[in-house]
Amino acid sequence: MMKREDEIARRRTFGIVSHPDAGKTTLTEKLLLFGGAIQTAGAVKSNKIKKSATSDFMEIEKQRGISVATSVMGFEYNGRMVNILDTPGHKDFAEDTYRTLTAVDSVIVVIDVAKGVEPQTEKLVEVCRMRKTPIIVFINKLDREGKDGFELLDEIETKLGLTTVPMSWPIGMGQDFTGVYNVYEKQLNLFSAHGKQNEDDLVTITELNEDTLLPHMSQRLCDELLESVEMVQEVYPTFERKTYLQGDQSPVFFGSAINNFGVKELLDCFVKIAPSPLPREAGVTLMKPLDDKFSGFVFKIHANIDPRHRDRIAFVRVVSGTFERNTQYNHVRLGRKLKFSNPTTFMASRKETVDMAYPGDIVGLYDSGNFIIGDTLTEGLDIQFKGIPSFSPEQFRYVVNKDPMRSKQLYKGINELIEEGVAQLFIRTMNNRRIIGTVGALQFEVIQYRLQHEYGAQCSYEPLPLHKACWVSCDDKAELEAFRKRRSRDMATDKKGRDVFLAESAWVLNQVQEAHPKVQFHYTSEWE
Ligand code: G4P
Repeated sequence: MMKREDEIARRRTFGIVSHPDAGKTTLTEKLLLFGGAIQTAGAVKSNKIKKSATSDFMEIEKQRGISVATSVMGFEYNGRMVNILDTPGHKDFAEDTYRTLTAVDSVIVVIDVAKGVEPQTEKLVEVCRMRKTPIIVFINKLDREGKDGFELLDEIETKLGLTTVPMSWPIGMGQDFTGVYNVYEKQLNLFSAHGKQNEDDLVTITELNEDTLLPHMSQRLCDELLESVEMVQEVYPTFERKTYLQGDQSPVFFGSAINNFGVKELLDCFVKIAPSPLPREAGVTLMKPLDDKFSGFVFKIHANIDPRHRDRIAFVRVVSGTFERNTQYNHVRLGRKLKFSNPTTFMASRKETVDMAYPGDIVGLYDSGNFIIGDTLTEGLDIQFKGIPSFSPEQFRYVVNKDPMRSKQLYKGINELIEEGVAQLFIRTMNNRRIIGTVGALQFEVIQYRLQHEYGAQCSYEPLPLHKACWVSCDDKAELEAFRKRRSRDMATDKKGRDVFLAESAWVLNQVQEAHPKVQFHYTSEWE
């Protein structure tokens, strides 16, 4: 058996983030194929919800099933144990996606060469930057016409705030896409649109010049490549792993996922440079993977697909020690001991019971209501992990109870769904009304549907045009009280009773911030 420290050192736990349609699913699938986790293309894809689908009830059910199945996909590659955590995109984009980012150690960002940096990518990368998560960028769909390479790098630098280091450079694009030149390996990788990439397509070129390049491409592409590579070397920093690991430098690759082009280079580089499991802060204690005692945190909760069974699956990221089956652990928030007889891993839609899991691994625990997002499990330690923040929602609606005879069920249902992290609940101070806030619009329908089917309660919504909900704090208690009074119409409390300011618009938020310089406005709930 491999030693524990070796097991930990070989783990790479990461997420792929992108705007819908950039090619995340396709890339995931190619990676799984390389790792032998799936045998045929289409296995992940066929699981995907059709984009045209309206968010009808069946789709919501299906989605919940699918996202459990693809929550974590693990495989071995070059002796490494790779865990891909699914970060839901599309309309089902929700806080879940953000929270999953707290459970990964690095990310790969996929960008469509034609579309460049898109809004969802901006939001997700912002969260990564906040956490200093190391980022690799994959520019996809080079077999199509798109933006110029330098233009894209500029966009990534300005919109995503990343310092880019091109590791490869594309030769041509769309119709005349000829391949990529790997700047570091000094290798030319030739693209043939039909069939797979094979060894013959790889040409090692130590000296870049017309003589070495012209046998493989036209004069025009040759001139372009020579000029571009010179620019790349002059303008961009050289790759340093340490800087990447600090989140201060992002290597960039070019390729075409659907053609399986550039994917192996990406994966080879990824397993080489990406961080092995990282420590996590628990108050003043830093829990390290090599520590003896087990600790982990819940970053995601999934309700059972079958509404007749109210059990859920809590996803735990192992931070330190080893997690073992049938062993008693502390549920720190409840102050109780719990043990788990069938912890599960999810290997690309295959469920398996695990006996032991290492730092970097994700285990799914069947739960009958003991867990909420952010809960800590430990081997006898009294610590609480921080950093599973709630993010300021962007869509808000008032809840309207449609069946007063079933109020109790409605409120119970709402509270349980909020605990699961489906959305956030605020109570507006001036009228005591419940406000549900979400990051994506589909969540409203999910809540309505689930309240009806799981709790027999009916709700509808009233629109509430708000820009953001920000948590507010102030060292000066009198000042905070004055603020609360002054803005009483815009105040609410969150589920923990903390003060929240409801901003009607970005402009109002700005004005209010200027008028109350001592009050701090937070976009996530974990500012302390
Ligand atoms: P997502 O998970 O990020 O939403 O993207 P997904 O992989 O589903 O890819 C979105 C679309 O882009 C798919 O086409 C996919 O086939 C296509 N695609 C992915 N990689 C490449 C690439 O390298 N080159 C080109 N030309 N297309 C690519 P679709 O028509 O929406 O779906 P499908 O009918 O092909 O499955």
